[in-house]
Parts: sequence; C-alpha cells; structure tokens
Amino acid sequence: MSEIIIAPSILSADFNQLGKDIEMLNASEAGYIHCDVMDGVFVPNISFGLPIIQHVSKVATKPLDVHLMIVNPDQYIDGFKDAGADILTVHYEACTHLHRTVLKIKSTGMKASVCLNPHTPVHLLDDIIMDLDMVLLMSVNPGFGGQKFIENTYDKVRKLKELIEKKNPSCLIEVDGGVNFETGKKLVEAGTDVLVAGSFVFGSASPIDTISKLKRI
Ligand code: DX5
Ligand code: ZN
Repeated sequence: MSEIIIAPSILSADFNQLGKDIEMLNASEAGYIHCDVMDGVFVPNISFGLPIIQHVSKVATKPLDVHLMIVNPDQYIDGFKDAGADILTVHYEACTHLHRTVLKIKSTGMKASVCLNPHTPVHLLDDIIMDLDMVLLMSVNPGFGGQKFIENTYDKVRKLKELIEKKNPSCLIEVDGGVNFETGKKLVEAGTDVLVAGSFVFGSASPIDTISKLKRI
C-alpha cells in the first residue's frame, strides 16, 4: 500500500499566529496544507479567501490543497492559481458545467479535484472520474470544523475505490471531516489515500506528533 498523506486543515489553526502554525506544518510530516475557503452562500459560514491563501503560500513549503466551498468557482480559478494553490477542489453540487471547470483548473497547471457532499452518490462521478487527480469525500456536512463523522463514508470510499480502479487508478481519494485515529484507520482500510484533519490535529497537545501518528495508523 502506498503512503498515507496527511492534510491538516488550517481552519482550526490559531489565526493570531498563522505564520507560526504554517511553520509547524512545514516541520511536520504533513503532505499537504488543507485550506478551507467558505463563501457564506454555498455553506453557512465564511472563512477566508485569496489574500490569506497568498500569505500562507509565502510561508508554506508543502503543496496547498485548497477546498472551495463556494458558488461559481470558475470565476476564481486563475485567482487561486496566482495565490499559490497546487490542488484545487470544487464541489460537484456547485458546478453546472463540471467538465469545463475541471479542464480549466488543469489548464492552469493545478491538480483538479471534485468534492461530494455526504448525500451525493459516488456513481455521479462515472463520466468525470478519468479527468480527475483526486476526489474529496465529505464525511461531515461542510461549513464547520469539529463535527461528528458520518459512518456511511466508509461505504462511499469503497465504492469510489472500485470506480477508480476501473477507470483511473492514479486518482487519489481524500476524506474530510471528523477524522481522528479511529475513523482515520477505518478510512485507510477502506481505501483512502489522503486524510484531512483539523480540530484533531490543532486541538491536540502536540500537533506534530498527532500528524506523525495519523500517518502511521
Ligand atoms: C469542513 C471543512 C473541513 C474541516 C475539518 O467544512 O471542509 O476541512 O476543517 O475539520 P475537522 O477535522 O475538525 O472535522
Ligand atoms: Zn475541507
């Protein structure tokens, strides 16, 4: 089995000392830095946008995994590329012309990823999976950190793994929401490649150790 990638979500970082937290992630075994962009329309919360990503990218030495929880993501693709995003995730539920959106993301040189909300079935990716670098499965309803993990996600990971093996074996599976040692272990067993973790990492006594242990569950 290939290595698990840990993507700490800076939504749970200390914004009074964001630079320090990013340096901590640089020194850790985190594979990506997960950045949650929320617009208050697609999700009932507002987080941060392009200027923060720009600042993070100046300090970060790991790829920025930018999760857009926004409507009309197309109009910001170039902006996120310029701000320093490496992987750009858009929501299936927010894109009417998803194929066009995915091709546009890839044309900038960023990796393209599509996210499914907990109620959105995996089979809807049947005709787009071959164009994706990653699929992000939400294991909570997007909008907030620290929510309870939805158990049906394991089943979705297994279904997605089957689809990926059939149509695009290099595509990664990332899961976001409620990840801890227990849920993380089961997710990896089901076929997950990338674990996003916010409150579990930043709420722990030693985020560096927690990241390292998550990588070895
Ligand atoms: C939720 C965000 C997540 C969130 C995860 O809308 O997409 O990335 O930060 O937080 P935890 O790990 O605390 O559930
Ligand atoms: Zn996220």
